[in-house]
Amino acid sequence: MAQVPSSLVLRRPDDWHVHLRDGAMLQAVLPATARTFARAIVMPNLRPPITTVDAALAYRSRILSALPQGQPFEPLMTAYLTDDLDPNELERGFREGVFTAAKLYPANATTNSAAGVSDLARIAAVLERMESIDMPLLIHGEVTDPEVDIFDREAAFIDQHLIPLRRRHPGLRIVLEHITTEQAAVYIRDEHLAGDRRLAATITPHHLHLNRNAMFMGGLRSDFYCLPVVKRECHRQALIAAATSGLPCFFLGTDSAPHPRSGKESACGCAGIFNALHAIESYACVFEQAGALDRLEGFASEHGPRFYGLPLNDDTITLVRKEQSVPSRLDPVETDVSAEDSLEENEWPALFHAGETLPWCVA
Ligand code: NCD
Ligand code: ZN
Repeated sequence: MAQVPSSLVLRRPDDWHVHLRDGAMLQAVLPATARTFARAIVMPNLRPPITTVDAALAYRSRILSALPQGQPFEPLMTAYLTDDLDPNELERGFREGVFTAAKLYPANATTNSAAGVSDLARIAAVLERMESIDMPLLIHGEVTDPEVDIFDREAAFIDQHLIPLRRRHPGLRIVLEHITTEQAAVYIRDEHLAGDRRLAATITPHHLHLNRNAMFMGGLRSDFYCLPVVKRECHRQALIAAATSGLPCFFLGTDSAPHPRSGKESACGCAGIFNALHAIESYACVFEQAGALDRLEGFASEHGPRFYGLPLNDDTITLVRKEQSVPSRLDPVETDVSAEDSLEENEWPALFHAGETLPWCVA
């Protein structure tokens, strides 16, 4: 195996799937994303969800005003598809550069998705419009039928919905978000190898690090619960192979999804892992272990913008091979939060990799 370098200069990465939330939580978590990532695709699953151009503009300006002073960061906004979203509103937002993409949540598939799409047939006109204007469709790919085993919902979605959808709309540009299974990784890879350039997938750090044992290690561990739920080890291995393959159809999307402590530590704990603070270091561990550090830059900084048709960032970050220990929670003191906007101290989200030592840090 090639020797591990003592530092690594990367074109600055972007995060192609993140939940920045709103209000006090936005204030708390935004600096963690903005310190590393130049841009991020911002998920629209607020309450109420972002379904209009005006709502997206207002949310974008709340994000920009929550940035630490002088911190550059570009939020790329998305529209939340519902059964009755007007295709004209979507097209206007896309043409005006407000919406970068639209997000499909099957109704009730995940956090704040109750207003999502109940049946793909109901949004046929929207999908047709998106296809004709080349607006990317971002999919939470899980069936919602409670009879389907939760570990099988992604694979079932591909067979029952994604493949038929792509047949109906062959020109639609699609990102299958946060893939978690071998079936998804193989499907995306094979379509790419067959010459398809309209399909891609994001992969999270936690799905590269965890298998489903993590949720039950010595007790019920809600900090490792997210959706789509982490799967068996063979699926994790397939995701590592995909992420480190160098194929441009796989790129970085953290799905960083913070919840207040009371939301995680509850009889019915929320789905979502907050990984933004150490995301790039977390990916670097996986790429190093796979002997593929030379492919990290493509995955983190090049494949995403190329898929979206956006320029690559021209500045860089430096990863240094120096150990850092990860604290249990985001430290309120480290951020620039005014007292009235701040989260209650006991509500700060737990960090992914809490208590671990990571071998890389950002200089
Ligand atoms: C996300 C959230 O909390 O908004 N949760 C998660 O487990 N990933 C929603 C989502 O992306 O499914
Ligand atoms: Zn998400």
